Amino acid sequence: MKSPSSLQKRLGLGLTLGMTLLWLGATVGAWLVVQHELNEAFDSALEETAQRILPLAVLEISNREEPREAQHVATLKMDNEYLMYVVRDAKGQILMQSHDANPKIFNPQPSEGFSTTKKYRLYGASALRQTLFIDIAEPLGHRREAAREALFALLLPLLALIPISLLGTWLFVRISLRSVLAYRRAVEARGVGDLSPINVTRLPAEIDPLADAVNHLLERLRKALEAERSFTANSAHELRTPLAATLAQIQRLRHEAPEGPLQVRAAKIENSLRELARLSEKLMQLAKAEGGGLLSETPQDLIPLLAHVVDEWNHSSGQRIELQLPKQPSVYSTIDPDAFGILLRNLIENALKYGAADQPVQVSLTHQAVLRVINGGPVVPEPVLQRLTERFVRGSREAGGSGLGLAIAKTIVQGVNASMVLASPATGRLEGFEVCIFLPLCSMSQN
Ligand SMILES: Nc1ncnc2c1ncn2[C@@H]1O[C@H](COP(=O)(O)OP(=O)(O)OP(=O)(O)O)[C@@H](O)[C@H]1O
Ligand SMILES: [Mg+2]
Repeated sequence: MKSPSSLQKRLGLGLTLGMTLLWLGATVGAWLVVQHELNEAFDSALEETAQRILPLAVLEISNREEPREAQHVATLKMDNEYLMYVVRDAKGQILMQSHDANPKIFNPQPSEGFSTTKKYRLYGASALRQTLFIDIAEPLGHRREAAREALFALLLPLLALIPISLLGTWLFVRISLRSVLAYRRAVEARGVGDLSPINVTRLPAEIDPLADAVNHLLERLRKALEAERSFTANSAHELRTPLAATLAQIQRLRHEAPEGPLQVRAAKIENSLRELARLSEKLMQLAKAEGGGLLSETPQDLIPLLAHVVDEWNHSSGQRIELQLPKQPSVYSTIDPDAFGILLRNLIENALKYGAADQPVQVSLTHQAVLRVINGGPVVPEPVLQRLTERFVRGSREAGGSGLGLAIAKTIVQGVNASMVLASPATGRLEGFEVCIFLPLCSMSQN
């Protein structure tokens, strides 16, 4: 699946690209206007200079003893650039020229007005009824450099503007999306069983209806799940009494029945009824685990709870369970004591049922609230192990069971934001089965 692209990245790149293109468009427009205005200013300066020099040249030439003789005059220095001029008569003979004027750059025949050659901008003016002409030339390089500098001045800010725009948009979008990110975090931080409405203030108007819709959906889902759970729990509860009564009746019938097929049949019915009673008990446990309320409001010390449950099982299993407790006198956790009891009973029941009968079951709790239940027995293959926590999934068909014990344990573990790891062979062994649960530790335990 294509990974979703970030809105922040898209807006940052899109806005920066748009701004850059607009800026470039504006730069081209501004540059054309500046070039035009520069040309006008340079032309007018050129014209003015020619008009100033011409009367002086006329005066100079008419005062000469030998007016037809060409005379070199020092160059005009303007802003580090040189203007060159020639003063000619109508036939094109040079009467006066600036110091380094090259006659080849001028038009062969004197003319009036502006003209442009490859390298020069020329201006011609006449005096004394078109008998004397001045041609003044300015290198085009000067104008080009001015236009180039203007272009650079317009483009240069763009270099700074691109990173500033990227950063600015990124920051602005990040700040604007703060509430959306908070919403995302609120959704991510939820436990599996938490279907309460998600409340985040000041969401953008575009996202707010979406959040409302999600909350409505959650509400409907919660109601549907609650209805399903209460139905399961109620049915299991309602079944309990009639099942117990029928079981008692069947036991009596078995005892009263004469030896023979009737007694065998009665024994079979009794077994089935016991299985049914166990199933309804497991269903009730599952409904409780899924119903929430798995966290206790006050921290619970796990050590007495654990010791009590292990003691109970040891009575009925002939002391097969070895309990290992941490050195600390107490380990506090936020798990509800009833939920902890259900979890523990299911794990110990499994360990006793499926573990090698000649090996003890090891139950241990660390000061970090890590609970381990380890038993001996054959290794469970990895693919089977992966699926054991699913509902109604069973590994071995030998011992009776409904396949709900580990599903109940997993639901409780998820409901308290803990984690559970199944391992076979058990850690550090070549065989056996291990269930390891990292329970939520309460800070009080460290005191
Ligand atoms: N401690 C264990 N050692 C070996 N196998 C185990 C152990 N615990 C569970 N299993 C395997 O995982 C399967 C699923 O266990 P789970 O507790 O979910 O169901 P169950 O024990 O079959 O039935 P239920 O617990 O509902 O009576 C079991 O059938 C068994 O094969
Ligand atoms: Mg079980």
